[in-house]
Amino acid sequence: MSSSSASTSEPTVLHVGGASPYDVVVGHHLAERLPAMLGDDVTRVALLYAGPLGALAQPVADALATKYDVLALGLPDGEDAKHAAVANDCWEALGEAGFTRSDAVVTVGGGATTDLGGFVAASWLRGVKVVHVPTTVLAMVDAAVGGKTGVNTGAGKNLVGAFHEPAGVICDLAFLETLPRDEFVAGLGEVVKCGFISDARILEIVETIDPEALTWNSAELRELVERAVQVKIDVVVDDLKETGGKDGHPGREALNYGHTLAHAIEKTSDYTVRHGEAVAIGCVYVAEVARRAGLLTPEEVARHRAAFSRVGLPVSYDAATFQDLLAVMKVDKKARGNQLRLLALDGIGRPTVLAGPQDEWLREAYSAIAKA
Ligand code: GLY
Repeated sequence: MSSSSASTSEPTVLHVGGASPYDVVVGHHLAERLPAMLGDDVTRVALLYAGPLGALAQPVADALATKYDVLALGLPDGEDAKHAAVANDCWEALGEAGFTRSDAVVTVGGGATTDLGGFVAASWLRGVKVVHVPTTVLAMVDAAVGGKTGVNTGAGKNLVGAFHEPAGVICDLAFLETLPRDEFVAGLGEVVKCGFISDARILEIVETIDPEALTWNSAELRELVERAVQVKIDVVVDDLKETGGKDGHPGREALNYGHTLAHAIEKTSDYTVRHGEAVAIGCVYVAEVARRAGLLTPEEVARHRAAFSRVGLPVSYDAATFQDLLAVMKVDKKARGNQLRLLALDGIGRPTVLAGPQDEWLREAYSAIAKA
């Protein structure tokens, strides 16, 4: 498929089954599909968009205005949106506009916007319809799909929230045209992660294409996004609330591959390292731990380094001491008591939980990823 055909061909519809089924539509210039996702029983729509997107959100506002009364609410950019005070401002605005149970929320923005907007939808009148229109690679393949919503508190990220599945997700790849390249590449961290935990075809694409050809309108980018979304769908359909998977699969926890060290890097760097970059480093790190635990071969670890670095992601880190990172990892939400639980691989595509890894493995693996 050529690049131009990727941006003009029919959208792909990925269906999410389960108790509240919905579709994730991937393609280009898809705003006109919104009314079909929201349905006929909706009267008013609150359009919650990342403030700096402004003009980019306009086609979505226009598509909604053909059928609904639209209340447009600009939110602070990035994590600044994920505060109870911002949710409160939204609740007040919904109250003033008289939003009822049969009205709806549409979000347009990155993962912080979909998390906050999803939480407002989950909590207003104990739950109204929400459709997400993610505008970053990261939000398309992760935050917008699967129903996790929430805000941050002084004690940490995502500590208050709810599971609230959307009525639909529109992954309009045209939004990626203006996404800064660093953000675009960082989002690929979650995509490559999906390759390692489940879909080796993702790895083959990454290993064989010219990384410069991975642009918003390329067929390869579209296939990578679709495959990563499908990995997430398969996992959340089996284990929506992260209570555990079937037949020995760790379930939704598998999506946390690389995330234990990643979260520690993000926290100790005061969030100056982007999430997808930290995930790339974290996956290489846990692969190094898994090699020491006898789960992965040196060649499989090398494949991690090669795949993430090929798309421009970092695979080494030494900006924090091992002691500082270990202290944060031990209070990670996956830890039990004082025992660390790492999501590891027992071979490519075979996620498993490594409970209580030896401190020596953890320390040696950190030396292995330290910058030369
Ligand atoms: N971001 C991981 C999850 O949705 O479970």
